Amino acid sequence: MPWTRRHLLTLEELTVTEIDQIHHTAAAFKKILKRSVKKVPALRGKTIVNLFLEPSTRTRMAFDMAAKRLSADVIAFDGASSSTTKGETLRDTAENIAALGADMIVIRHAAAGSPLYLSNILNIPVINAGDGSHEHPTQGLLDTFTMRERLGHDLRGKKVVILGDILFSRVARSNIHALVKLGAAVTLVGPSTLVPREFEPLGVTVSHDLRRALADAEVVMLLRIQHERQTAAMFPSLGEYTSLFGLNKTRAGWLAPEAIIMHPGPINRGVEIDSELADGERSVILDQVTNGIAVRMAVLYLCSGGQPENVVAAD
Ligand code: CP
Repeated sequence: MPWTRRHLLTLEELTVTEIDQIHHTAAAFKKILKRSVKKVPALRGKTIVNLFLEPSTRTRMAFDMAAKRLSADVIAFDGASSSTTKGETLRDTAENIAALGADMIVIRHAAAGSPLYLSNILNIPVINAGDGSHEHPTQGLLDTFTMRERLGHDLRGKKVVILGDILFSRVARSNIHALVKLGAAVTLVGPSTLVPREFEPLGVTVSHDLRRALADAEVVMLLRIQHERQTAAMFPSLGEYTSLFGLNKTRAGWLAPEAIIMHPGPINRGVEIDSELADGERSVILDQVTNGIAVRMAVLYLCSGGQPENVVAAD
């Protein structure tokens, strides 16, 4: 099957074949990243603009690294010093970036749907790097890539628990879409205000019983409390949240023996996860970050017109 998408907007719209194609391409790029010369000429002559209008450490740097490893020129748009501060709209900003000759835009924005909006008005590929509480597709792709590395390619029947602020999490939504398509048994757990039953039609189990949810899980993914998107108090205090739902050593003991601990970052140590677990041997948190480069290389390459079978990396 050839890759045909120009934009990456959501994981909701991807097929299992497309997820497999991205992971297959990322695996080949990951091998290239282990060489002494980590760069390939795949996007030489192309210019990628990282239009980040919300804070980011991992995603922004990984997209930057990925583009450079593909030999593209990269421009980081600095919202704080841009004419958006003078009232220029997102549409005008993006159309001007395209008029300046950008070949692709990677956008992070607080408004859900802004990548889709740009994809409808621009003639260049648009990649969603996180839009409000909606989706963070490359995070979902790197998370499932990391799970496949650790648990094996076939995730069917694997028990994956996502713990924390699901309601406001774009990471959770993208992971839910990918994991359900790949056949994993997904449980969402946390306080009922942050984990409402409205998620059940997506094909997941909703639980408010931490012990039952974590029992024999092969993956637990922690999410931080996203204060920046919450408009009302969702629980009495952070201390109470931690005492009821924070992952500590005792609770991690309820997981399957070989279970992995994941977190998309940024971590709030001592709130959703204790440091000894975040830094412990079951943690794959920094592997997720590392895999983010290869996965984003795959996305940039494919959405620029590349084909999965053309990336070959010798072992
Ligand atoms: N996981 C993630 O999106 O992190 P950043 O906000 O630092 O990019």
